[in-house]
This record gives sequence, C-alpha cells and structure tokens, in this order.
Amino acid sequence: MTSLPPISVSDKNSFANSDAIRSTHLHLSLTADFDRKVLHGHVVHSLSVLKDSVKELVLDSSYIDVKAVTINGTDEALEFVVHDRHAIYGSPVQIRFPRALAKGEEIAVKVVYSTTKDCTAIQWLEPSQTVGKKHPYLFTQCQAIHARSLVPCQDTPSIKIKYSADVTAPAHLRALMSAVPKDEVVSGSHKKYNFDQAIAIPSYLIALAVGNLEGRKIGPRSTVWSEPEMVEASAWEFVETEDFIATGEKLLTPYCWGVYDLLVLPGSFPYGGMENPCLTFVTPTLLAGDRSLVDVVAHELAHSWMGNLVTSSNWEHFWLNEGWTMFVERKIIGRIRGNAEAEFSAIVGLKALKESIDHYDEIKTPQYTALVPELGGVDPDDSFSSVPYEKGFNLLYYLEVQLGGPSVFEPFVTAYVERFSHKSITTTDFKSFLYEYFNKHDHSKIKVLDAIDWHTWFHGQGYPPVKNEFDQTLAKACDELAKRWDSARASDKLDFSPEDIRNFSSTQTVVFLEKLLELTPLPHKLLAEMDKVYSLTSVRNAEIRFRWQWLCLKADYEAIFPAVAAFLVEAGRMKYVRPLYRAWDKTTNGGPLARKTFLDNRSFYHPICAAMVAKDLGL
Ligand code: BES
Ligand code: ZN
Repeated sequence: MTSLPPISVSDKNSFANSDAIRSTHLHLSLTADFDRKVLHGHVVHSLSVLKDSVKELVLDSSYIDVKAVTINGTDEALEFVVHDRHAIYGSPVQIRFPRALAKGEEIAVKVVYSTTKDCTAIQWLEPSQTVGKKHPYLFTQCQAIHARSLVPCQDTPSIKIKYSADVTAPAHLRALMSAVPKDEVVSGSHKKYNFDQAIAIPSYLIALAVGNLEGRKIGPRSTVWSEPEMVEASAWEFVETEDFIATGEKLLTPYCWGVYDLLVLPGSFPYGGMENPCLTFVTPTLLAGDRSLVDVVAHELAHSWMGNLVTSSNWEHFWLNEGWTMFVERKIIGRIRGNAEAEFSAIVGLKALKESIDHYDEIKTPQYTALVPELGGVDPDDSFSSVPYEKGFNLLYYLEVQLGGPSVFEPFVTAYVERFSHKSITTTDFKSFLYEYFNKHDHSKIKVLDAIDWHTWFHGQGYPPVKNEFDQTLAKACDELAKRWDSARASDKLDFSPEDIRNFSSTQTVVFLEKLLELTPLPHKLLAEMDKVYSLTSVRNAEIRFRWQWLCLKADYEAIFPAVAAFLVEAGRMKYVRPLYRAWDKTTNGGPLARKTFLDNRSFYHPICAAMVAKDLGL
C-alpha cells in the first residue's frame, strides 16, 4: 500500500495539495436515495494550477466510494488511489494527471462517487424521527472537517470556492442548500433542484437538507423553512431577523449574500445554529415561544461577515470566526435590546468559558484552552469549546476598552471586514492589520497596543490574562436569589415563592441557576422545594431546562432522571447533550441508565454528536 500523502502546508487537518493546485469552483450533481441512505452522483472541480510541473491532485475524502475520475469534460479516465483511512482526517484521494501541469493552467476534474452509511456529515432520519412522522429527512453538518464525507474536496478553510449544484429528490420533498435556489424541474416521481452560490466560500459552508419543508416569508430577504408543523411557530419566533440584518449592515458592510433564510431542523440537529450562507440552520430548541433565544440568530447572522466573508485559514485560528462573531452578535443585541442585555450575555459567556477550562483540566487536555491551539494530529471536534468564543470575545472587548471605546474601535471593525472579505486569514494577519490601522489613523494608540500581553492572550492556557468588568445590572437579582438559596441550607424555615422569579427574564433564571452550579450541590430537600415553588422541571425553555437538570445531576438528585432521559431524546444539541450525559454518568447510580439511554437512542443523534458522546462516556 502506498503511504499517505503529506499533510497540507497551510492546514494541519487536510491532505489537499492546495499550495500546488486549487479548486475555484465546484459543481455538485447528487441524487438523494432515501432507501439506501446514500447520495450518489458526481462533483466537477474547476482548478487553477499554482506551480510548475504539478503531477497530481489530492482531495480529502472520508467514507466516500469513488467510482471514477475523468478530466476536462472528456471520458478520459485518470488514475487515482483512495488511501487507507487516517483515523481522523480520512482517506485522501490521490489523482494522477496524464502529464505534468504548468503554472496558470486551468483544468476540470470530475469525480463520480457515492456517499456511504458511515459519512459523518450526513444524518438520514426515518419518518419517525421527524416532527411530521410521515417523510424521511436528511441534513448535513460540514464544519469543521466533515465536508470531505459529503464531497471529495480540498477540505480546508484556506481555500474558497464558488459552487453550483443540482440535487434530485423525491418530488414531494424539497431540497435546500447554502446557496441561492434556482429553478426546479420535475421528472416523473422526482424533482431536480438547482442552486448557485456565487460568492466563494470555504468547504465547511457547503450544506444540504432534504425533507418535507415549507417556507414562510418573515422579511424582505428572509424566509423561514421547517417541517409544516413548526413553520408558524418559527415565523413568530424569528420575526426580528430583518432588524438583525439591518443592524449588522449599519455596524459593518452591506449584507452581500442576497437572501438570509433560516431552516429550523428536527431535534437531532447537533448545534444551536450553523451559519450556512444564505440559509442558517438552527435547532428547534430555539422555539421557546417568547423569542428569548433568538440571540443565536443574531450570532449566525454575524457570521455573514465574521467567518463567511473573513475566514480563519485553518482550525487553529477558529477564534477569528467565533470570537469575532460573539463580539458582533453582542453589538447587535446591544443595539436592539440595550447594552445591559449585551453585557449580561457576556457574563453568561464567562461562565461558559469557565466550564470549558474546567472540563479540559479535568480530562487533562489544557492545551485546548489556548486561544490559538496547536492542532497537528488533532480532531478539531475535540478542541471545540467555548474557549475560542469567549476568550476571543474577551480579547476584542478588552481591545475596544483599551483603545478608547466603540467610537474608536467600531470603525476599525468595519475596516477589518473591508480589508479581509473574501480572504482566509490567520491571527498574525489580524494583529498586523490592527497595528497598521492604528498606525495610520491614530498613532497614539500604538503604545496601547504594545502594552497588550499578546503572547499570553494567544498562546497562554486557562483564563485570559486580564479580566473585563461587565455591567452587573441584570445579574444582581440572580446573584441575590442564589445567595438566599445557598443560606437556606442552614435554616429550617423556608420562605421562597414563585414571586422570586416572576419578573426574571429567562436569561436571568439561567444565570440564577449558573450561580448555584458554582456552589457545593444543594441538599435534595432544597432542590425539591425549588422545583415546587418555581416548577423548573416542567419549564420548556431549553436553556433553563438544561441548567436545572444539570444542577440536579450534580447534586445526585435521582428524581430528575426521567426528565433528563426525556430531554436527551428530544434534543440532540451537543451543548446540552454532552454535559448532561457526562453528569448523569457521574451520579452514584445513574451511570448504567445514562449509557443505556444513549445506546438505545444512538440513531436519534447526528453522527458527530453520537461520536462525541461515545467518547465522553468512554464507549
Ligand atoms: N459555527 C458554529 C457551529 C460550529 C462550530 C459547528 C464548530 C461545528 C464546528 C455556530 O455559529 C455556533 O457557534 N453555534 C453556537 C451558537 C451560539 C454561540 C449562539 C451553538 O451551536 O451553540
Ligand atoms: Zn458561531
């Protein structure tokens, strides 16, 4: 067997030889076969040769069945090898050209292929796993390195490609992609849906969903899509979408993607949201019925600039996507809901950062708590946590304060987007531009920048080197109530009532529970009382439900087990599922039940989530 090709120069998580030849456009032509649970068809890559005497093209692939490779629209078959799997990065496809290519040549390579049941990007849902229970469903999740299990490609965010696609599906279902929908053609029992993404994007933003989908227009450039049963509720929950877009535009640059649609997925969607261009994917757990969780939409929208236009070059610089997006998300929330709300969100973020740092300490991988971690040989899904989000946010927030506040920093943010849109960049590019900008606009700021402990911010483990002070207006009442419960351990007369939280926003209830999560677990008697007065077990808001169940599990409160089991098979969002399974597994008697619940329901979870939980539980 031939040995694996070398890892890419610009991305330790890819085998693509993208320094020699790069894809500029791909066309995907796929048929969704719900009986066999495979996508089959082909991809055509348009490629530019960047160097002289390029003899091969290496594409990333994972669990893909490659059937044939041809060149330049001919039937001329190219020799290729699909390598044995690298455990994390999959099976590179090494394609040999008939002759060495010269710098500047343009070629087209067609790969005929089929996905397999092991492809981690795709979840195939049985009708019983959907809301409507009548039709099958499929959806993809490509970030970070799963695009290679949907399509053989140069699966690195250092490369940006335009794409077009045609997807054939049963005619009663609808296909949607992270692109602008074009025409639809019916042929017999099937329908072919065409798409075009005219802005170059990294491979992780390719996305597809096929199901019984209905749309409702919720703004001049936005439609919300979901199964018909959820579409009304979704349209209600996300009415503010256009306000978010308009606010983003005022803050940054015009929204350039044409449409901004939302797709509300079935319960197994593994994230809160995913910023697929033109079509953000969101979890149905956002449908709280009170618009209290729509900050996730503000977040995914903010990626339209931070991540989707200005993209981190590889997964070590992921904070440039997520830290910047948190920063813009909170700016948007601040503009629309007021600054106290944005600062409150930052307080929630700090707690999430603490959880992540504690978790990585516990599993002895503190290297993942660096803002710019070293990811050679690492699965980026393992390094995924709140660290890039919240440490990144805290760095940007700190910079804003140090440099003189929003009036100084916001123009820089716009300039940053203008400078790096349609590019992939590293942390060094960010820092150099920061210096370049202030050198030009206000030289007095250079000494401010020089005083920043960059090395610790970027490479230090654990907490950031400096602590930001956030406005405590909304946190105060949460803190006080948590203190009352904490003191109640010692007293035998309890005087709590539903009034305590009557005027709390759902985020305040979340923060109240988070304060308690930091303390020694409450005695069962108090947990029972708390549930009696606040009815927490029956709350539907997923953020509250999650913290409440977590608090109970940490206290070994077995009365919560049935509710945990119910939540875990209703929502497959990893933010909830992973900590809950871990905490359940750690209870005195819950371990076997936690494992059984997971194993019995494994097919409910998206493959990415199932793999992570299996790792967490040591299965
Ligand atoms: N891009 C992420 C989701 C993601 C990150 C998927 C890395 C795969 C690998 C998305 O924008 C995100 O951050 N979602 C958050 C939303 C939250 C921070 C508002 C989530 O899913 O919880
Ligand atoms: Zn994000």
